[in-house]
Amino acid sequence: MIVMPGPASLELGGKIAEKLGFDSHPVDHRVFPDGESYIRLTAPVEGETVVMVQTTFPNPDRGVVQLLLMVRAAKDLGAERVVCVVPYLAYSRQDKRFREGEALSLDTVVALLDDAGGDDLIVVDVHNEESLERLKVKTGLGIVNLSVMPLLAGHLKGLGFRGAFSLSPDEGAKHLADAAARVLGGGSGFFEKIRDRKTGEIEMAVKDIELVGKDAVVFDDIISSGGTTAAAVRGLKNQGAKRVAAACAHGLFMGGAEERIRDAGADLIVSTDTVLTSLSRVTVAGLIADQLYKI
Ligand code: R5P
Repeated sequence: MIVMPGPASLELGGKIAEKLGFDSHPVDHRVFPDGESYIRLTAPVEGETVVMVQTTFPNPDRGVVQLLLMVRAAKDLGAERVVCVVPYLAYSRQDKRFREGEALSLDTVVALLDDAGGDDLIVVDVHNEESLERLKVKTGLGIVNLSVMPLLAGHLKGLGFRGAFSLSPDEGAKHLADAAARVLGGGSGFFEKIRDRKTGEIEMAVKDIELVGKDAVVFDDIISSGGTTAAAVRGLKNQGAKRVAAACAHGLFMGGAEERIRDAGADLIVSTDTVLTSLSRVTVAGLIADQLYKI
């Protein structure tokens, strides 16, 4: 097996290779003045299983194109199997046509990886796991979605959140809170959105659960603008929660998101290294390496 970190995942790719006990072979890359990416593989791949590690942030489009170049090059040069490890898979929120005429972005990205020669796709806490089930059938790619929620919960447990109540921003994401609750104890639930009749503003509240004096954690797949998490944190504080933490797999933290969540009352914010920021306190390297052992 050959592990090749792409430009967007040099550090994580190196960690994964180390966990597996292999050398890391980062691809050689450059961005030309006109914005095009140049990619060169740095190890012979003929007859090998090649693991391409490339997240798709901070530049989703460039991340995807670089990965396609990497995958195609490996297949052209005789790799037997190409495993795409995409810790944060951009475009996964556009997994259906919400309005007539919209592009099916997730389907398009996954189909491109398949067409380029990818054999497997490993992702972490994709926005909607069911969409991947559909794409497995459509493309024939071996697709695995790993969840880092138990690791995030374990991290928070170590910081004194044992017994905290686990929450997801909505019912559709309740599986995230459930997975965390299995580690934290303390139960799980989800928020409901309530519109203030006077102001028209949306508030988030947890119904039928007593939270006064309890610790609570909001778990989400992505924090982008921080608006969802901030509203959830504010809702918990309004309901009398004691300490409130915010945890996510993919911390994009766009435009003041961290401040927005802290201002809402969060005592702690934690994310993982699928997207590397100063709040990445949990690594997915072991989780991904364990999955690669099975290949
Ligand atoms: C949406 O369905 C996702 O699960 C996240 O809740 C959302 O992407 C968070 O976005 P933001 O941080 O901008 O509210």
